[in-house]
Amino acid sequence: MRSTLLGIETSCDDTAAAVVVDGEVRSNVISSQDMHDEYGGVVPELASRDHQRLIVPVVERALDEAGIRRSDIDGVAVTHGPGLSGSLMVGLSFAKAFALGLDVPLVGVNHLEGHIYSARIDDPAPPFPYLCLVVSGGHTQLVLVHGDFDYTVLGQTRDDAAGEAFDKIAQLLGLGYPGGPEIDAHAQTGDPSFHEFPRSELDDFDFSFSGLKTSVLYYLNEFSDEERAELIDDHLDDLCASVQQAIVDVLVETTRQAVQSTGVDHVAITGGVSANSALRRAIQAVGETDGFAVYLPDMAYCMDNAAMIAVAGYHKWQAEQTSELSLTAVPRLALPE
Ligand code: KG4
Ligand code: ZN
Repeated sequence: MRSTLLGIETSCDDTAAAVVVDGEVRSNVISSQDMHDEYGGVVPELASRDHQRLIVPVVERALDEAGIRRSDIDGVAVTHGPGLSGSLMVGLSFAKAFALGLDVPLVGVNHLEGHIYSARIDDPAPPFPYLCLVVSGGHTQLVLVHGDFDYTVLGQTRDDAAGEAFDKIAQLLGLGYPGGPEIDAHAQTGDPSFHEFPRSELDDFDFSFSGLKTSVLYYLNEFSDEERAELIDDHLDDLCASVQQAIVDVLVETTRQAVQSTGVDHVAITGGVSANSALRRAIQAVGETDGFAVYLPDMAYCMDNAAMIAVAGYHKWQAEQTSELSLTAVPRLALPE
């Protein structure tokens, strides 16, 4: 079935719109809100207000860049959860109005399904079944993807998400928000063996990152204010590399164990943290030694974006899984299992 879908994503602090024609991305526009840096994290009220300001220009740019008119659109895919409720509501209301005005179907997409489908945007897409590690600021889940919309969550974080750990530790080190890209950049020239931070190893495929955050805090508190400032001044890159290595080791080792236990030898890593250069290198190296294939989305599809929502929406649309206009925003929406 031929289709031109508009995708909308506003679950957190990125206002994003994309156009996907027959499953191929034609445009992918993201406007990231930078005012949250000042507060060290996303301020929900500011985020939803900025989505309201940005949604129309972002959608117009997505249509322009794809070279299509509104009348070409066959359906509107939109994130309806999980996420910040005010932020979700801006995108969802806009998408409903757009779908109603054009008299085309609305397709509600789970944000986590969007991240899972981001691994399917570029060729080669992982064949079913595959393992997908979704690592973002809000989520850390290891998912066994059996087929379209058919998942088993093997493990997830019991406390902080991996991206949240990067962000909170970056804050302890005096870096800006989001902290992941900053830690990644500093770590490039740092020594990962400068300090051995703890790796939490849980029995199942669950994760825990709050202990790491606390251990960084305790480590820094061992120094006087003056010594700490000097340590950060002299060894910021080494500290970043050491923290990053601790997070990457846990993610890679847990994934490796899941490959061994399930026998599934195709692995995708998606979500904002999948942009991390050390994680990308490490999983590829382990994939080579252990004999599993690794799929990493293009950088443009790692962070929150609407192309992944439109692509997931395209598969739903093809399966005739469209939504009613009464679709609501569900801030704690779980992955359907
Ligand atoms: O997927 P995403 O854009 O939003 C959520 O769904 O949460 O992920 C954002 C998260 C932030 O925590 C950010 O620090 C992290 O992804 N991140 C990174 C890198 N780039 C983004 N973490 C580590 N290294 C990176 N290069
Ligand atoms: Zn996300």
